[in-house]
Amino acid sequence: KLLGGFKKINHHLPMLSLSNALNENDFSSFYEKILEKNNSTNINLYAEPKFDGLAISIDYKGGEYFSASTRGDGSIGEDVTSNLRTIKSIPLRLHASSQNNIPALLEIRGEVLMLKEDFRELNQKQRKKNEKVFVNPRNAAAGSLRQLDPKITATRRLTFFAYGIGDFRGEGIPRDTHSNVMKYIAAHGLPIAKECDLVCSSAGLLAYYKKIEDSREQLPYDIDGVVYKVNDIAQQEKLGFISRAPRFALAHKFPAQEVITE
Ligand code: IVH
Repeated sequence: KLLGGFKKINHHLPMLSLSNALNENDFSSFYEKILEKNNSTNINLYAEPKFDGLAISIDYKGGEYFSASTRGDGSIGEDVTSNLRTIKSIPLRLHASSQNNIPALLEIRGEVLMLKEDFRELNQKQRKKNEKVFVNPRNAAAGSLRQLDPKITATRRLTFFAYGIGDFRGEGIPRDTHSNVMKYIAAHGLPIAKECDLVCSSAGLLAYYKKIEDSREQLPYDIDGVVYKVNDIAQQEKLGFISRAPRFALAHKFPAQEVITE
């Protein structure tokens, strides 16, 4: 929901949602559909963690950090440019080398979150000061980012992971595969999760799901599943969209975590 008090920013391209798979049946119907629509028996998918944070869009113009906004209603978000500027992992200028042309516009899509360790530290500090403690890292990240005073955001340790691009203008931006887009993003200085992987079969995707689920506790950040994206962009375009979600991607969710309350 859009908060009052923030200026609004129109996203160049809408920020979409993901269809969810809550069990193996949902997963199988997604996988079968993408094979069927592409008339193929084998399709490469890019698998990523599903970060449990806040969706963010960042505009780089001429390589410089220009603006940042929350997802909002998908078309219009809240202007959090000053707040996001305080996050150290977000470069204020895209890294360039002779191979990396700087694009006129690059809309980076990703997630802001708070690492589990930073969350524990923040709550300790809050308790000492007799101030509000946060229920989980996601709430702490949201509360820290959606501050009208960016000085408060600057005192909280937030992290960013990029997972794709929205709009762009200029040369050199890969249009062949999502894995090349991710390499391009990383080469320009934006953090991407090291757990990302290219997988080529239904069994491979389920093995990825299991591997990430098994390492969930050890990851430094909270996730609530994994995301699969058809790697070939031409194949993605063939698949198209269903309401506000692309048919070429799926969020395969983990069962809700059980905790014991007092
Ligand atoms: S891709 C067109 N990749 O999930 C698809 N989203 O319902 C655009 N999310 O709030 C999203 N991790 O911020 C994508 N690796 C990931 C993600 C991811 C978390 C969030 C996203 C949005 C929700 C989509």
